[in-house]
Amino acid sequence: MQDRGFHIITFGCQMNVHDSQWLARAFTARGLAESTLEEARVIVVNTCSVREKPEQKVMSTLGRIRQLRAGESDLLVAVTGCVAQQLGTEFFEREPLVRLVAGSDGIASAPAAIERLLEDPTLRLSLLDFSSHYIEREAGAQGPCGPMAHVNIMQGCDNFCAYCIVPFTRGRQKSRLSDAILSECRQRLAQGAREICLLGQNVNAFGRDSHGDGLSFAQLLRQVAALPGLERLRFVTPHPKDMDAEDVAAFADLPQLCPRLHLPLQAGSDAVLKRMGRRYDSADFLRLVEALRAARPDLALSTDLIVGFPGESEADFQATLDMVRACGFMSSFSFCYSDRPGTRASRFLDKIAPEVQQDRLLRLQALQDELGQAWLAARVGGTTTLLLEGKSPKPGSPDTDGARLTSWQGRDPYGVPVHVLLPEQAGLEGHMIAVNIVEAKKHSLLAEAVGETW
Ligand code: SAH
Ligand code: SF4
Ligand code: F3S
Repeated sequence: MQDRGFHIITFGCQMNVHDSQWLARAFTARGLAESTLEEARVIVVNTCSVREKPEQKVMSTLGRIRQLRAGESDLLVAVTGCVAQQLGTEFFEREPLVRLVAGSDGIASAPAAIERLLEDPTLRLSLLDFSSHYIEREAGAQGPCGPMAHVNIMQGCDNFCAYCIVPFTRGRQKSRLSDAILSECRQRLAQGAREICLLGQNVNAFGRDSHGDGLSFAQLLRQVAALPGLERLRFVTPHPKDMDAEDVAAFADLPQLCPRLHLPLQAGSDAVLKRMGRRYDSADFLRLVEALRAARPDLALSTDLIVGFPGESEADFQATLDMVRACGFMSSFSFCYSDRPGTRASRFLDKIAPEVQQDRLLRLQALQDELGQAWLAARVGGTTTLLLEGKSPKPGSPDTDGARLTSWQGRDPYGVPVHVLLPEQAGLEGHMIAVNIVEAKKHSLLAEAVGETW
């Protein structure tokens, strides 16, 4: 491929972040270097359509690119991800700059397509078909990958929650073959990863589609946890209805599995959960939380919540607040319900006024801030283990002997960012160190190293 490099702009969930990282490795393997928005010859916008706002951001980003790079005839703009899947070739009319549209499965062939487009400036391509199986992707450029790695275990979702566009943009659930998953995990560990996060829209339904190879999600967890060199294992996102006794037991049996679980509740009212099509009620969710905490007493939970779903009354909303208190979430992502084209909920008539939604969102977020702060504050005085990611932008300071100390950032087993002062030596990335927690900030912790454990 030619010079002047590539630039990728990513919106949306962890799956998109992961796809963008893979694209970057595939471009690098083809001899293209990472570059800036102002300079790059190839610009990829990897899009999200889960709510209206992220979708609008995609359109304004394309507008910005047009203004910034007007008149450059050799510029190649590609749109990938969920909005690309949804709008398809309509992009070519909406935005003349766009020469490639690649959807959720099409992205696997995007690097080769971009190579062709660079050779033939008259061409435009779309890759929008869903494949019937999980598409294995080319390995991409090799090299160190950082201490935390993400590994896809499936594509798509079969749940069709009433509000959600994901099953339409990502297609049907397709489990990846376990051999391929395990070999990618081994490869990441060989490249320096210490922590692996297994990714999917409904990870704990892994294997329960026609593409499974007989291994269950809990069995997969056990096999990944046993890989030499792995210190920490996580997964995102599980569905409460698919959390079985084996999954719960994994939290008791696997020390590598972090004591942190992101478990989307969405709403506290049984009537709303029913209309959402979530297939659990508040009592089921509380029973599950109890079982998980019995298996792993130090477990911390986080969640996703939607306020102002069509028909949500003030009493329904109060039920969400009650559940948030009862579950004691350490953090949550909360959103106002947003109409998505083609979903069942978009046809519900009893929509909630935006100002009511906004008011509920602020009240919910105030409660969550309180719970999150209390959870962080309760950890001060305790010890924990950090996986060091790199130096943090915070200023360092001289230690008592006058040696220079630098602020490093790591994550504890809960995924919380922790800052710690350590000697200014290189090569601490990927090390695990023991620390004492000394102070809680708004979303992070400050700590001191215990002895010279690095
Ligand atoms: N597969 C995951 C995440 C899906 S998308 C799951 O099942 O939880 C991430 C979050 O976006 C969802 O959990 C939900 O809280 C939110 N979301 C999805 N569609 C939405 C919509 N139409 N309006 C508002 N929030 C939505
Ligand atoms: Fe969307 Fe529901 Fe699937 Fe999650 S489980 S991606 S919310 S349809
Ligand atoms: Fe967004 Fe698609 Fe992920 S809609 S949240 S990028 S699956």
